[in-house]
This record gives sequence, structure tokens and C-alpha cells, in this order.
Amino acid sequence: MGLYRDHLLPVLIDRTCGGAAFTPMRRSLAAPLSGTILELGFGSGLNLAHYPDTVAQVLAVEPSDRAFQLAQPRIAARGLRVERVGLDGQHLALEDQSVDGAMCTFVLCTIPDANKALRELARVLRPGAPLQLLEHGRAPEPSIARWQQRLDPLQRRLADGCHLSRDPLALLKAAGFELTEVHQRYLSPRSPFTFLTTATALAPHR
Ligand SMILES: C[S@@+](CC[C@H](N)C(=O)[O-])C[C@H]1O[C@@H](n2cnc3c(N)ncnc32)[C@H](O)[C@@H]1O
Repeated sequence: MGLYRDHLLPVLIDRTCGGAAFTPMRRSLAAPLSGTILELGFGSGLNLAHYPDTVAQVLAVEPSDRAFQLAQPRIAARGLRVERVGLDGQHLALEDQSVDGAMCTFVLCTIPDANKALRELARVLRPGAPLQLLEHGRAPEPSIARWQQRLDPLQRRLADGCHLSRDPLALLKAAGFELTEVHQRYLSPRSPFTFLTTATALAPHR
């Protein structure tokens, strides 16, 4: 599993998540961000090109050395300060209310305890700061949702813990975020893998 998980999978994820269909979603999510941005599950840096000049720096949380290595040319090309501040979104070594916004794309599906990671995000974000989210997740149709549950064990094994049947909006609400903008749709073709959510969620006031 070491070679696959540590070396091949980050490349496969880079190719899959780098699909052109996601580019407009990444761009519009990144557009309103400014200041210090925390990116959970930074991966190979596929959001970097889309951050506007109002973003001063990106704090990257990413466990995979290979993914972070794949990001290096994108970091150099974008010329934005990127600091890898952690390896696990469930435990952030950052001060309370110290970041101005967060980006989270195709990550809540994978983090073992996504609720814990969102509570950590809520802690380090300024109250009312935006979390911009793009995730695949549980489909509204019971027949597809059942397939997602059936396929989940295989998906978790092949994709390093990725779940098909998580509900990102329920996770955000449970962690106290306020949803201000939500779009949900299938990316063609309709399948257990293609139900997408984009959302803006505001960090709770404590
Ligand atoms: C499907 S990839 C998405 C990468 C990137 N966000 C993108 O949109 O292309 C999921 C990423 O989450 C990372 N990840 C896995 N467990 C994590 C954790 N506990 N905390 C933070 N990131 C994690 C993986 O290493 C991987 O880079």
C-alpha cells in the first residue's frame, strides 16, 4: 500500500481533481477571499492559480509529502507565499481567530473526523470569516445514496479514506457554520461519484 498511497495516489488525485470541469468552481470560490487563507488538504495546489491578489498568504495543511511536492511548480508560478503549517486538519497549531478565510476542496470526504476538523477551522477563523467549500457527497436520490453506501468501503480503500456518502452541509451545520450560499448538482454523468456541493459558510461567532 505504501507505493500506491504515498506516490501513485497523489498523482492520480492531481489528475482527477485537476479536471477542467472543476476550474470555474475553484475560480469563483477563491475570488472573494482576502488576507491570510487556510487551505485544508492543500493537495497539489490546484486552487493556487485562482486566488486573487487580495490574498496575502496561504497556510497549507497537507499530510502527503508527494502532493506537496507536486504543488511546488504551482507555488513558484503563482508567486504567493505558501507555508505548510500542518499535516492534519483535525489538529491545527494556529491561534484562535487568526485567519481571514479558508478553502476546502474535496477534503471533508477524506479527513477521518471531518467534524473535528471543522470545529478546528471554526476556532482559527475570525468570526464571520468565509469558508469556501467544494465537495462531492451524499446524493439526494435514495437509489444513488444506497449505491454510495455500498461502494464506500471500496472507495475508502482505494482513495485513502475518501467517503462517498458524507453530507458536507450537515457537517458544516453541526460545526456551527452559517451557510450563505449553496449550489448542488451532478456533474455529468449522474453517478455515486458526481454529486457536488459548492458552498460559502461563515465561521460561528463565539
Ligand atoms: C482528494 S484530495 C484534494 C486535494 C485538493 N484540495 C484539491 O482540491 O485538489 C484530498 C486531500 O486531503 C488530504 N488529507 C487527507 N487527510 C487529511 C487530514 N487529516 N488533514 C488535512 N488534509 C488531509 C490528502 O492528503 C489530499 O491531499
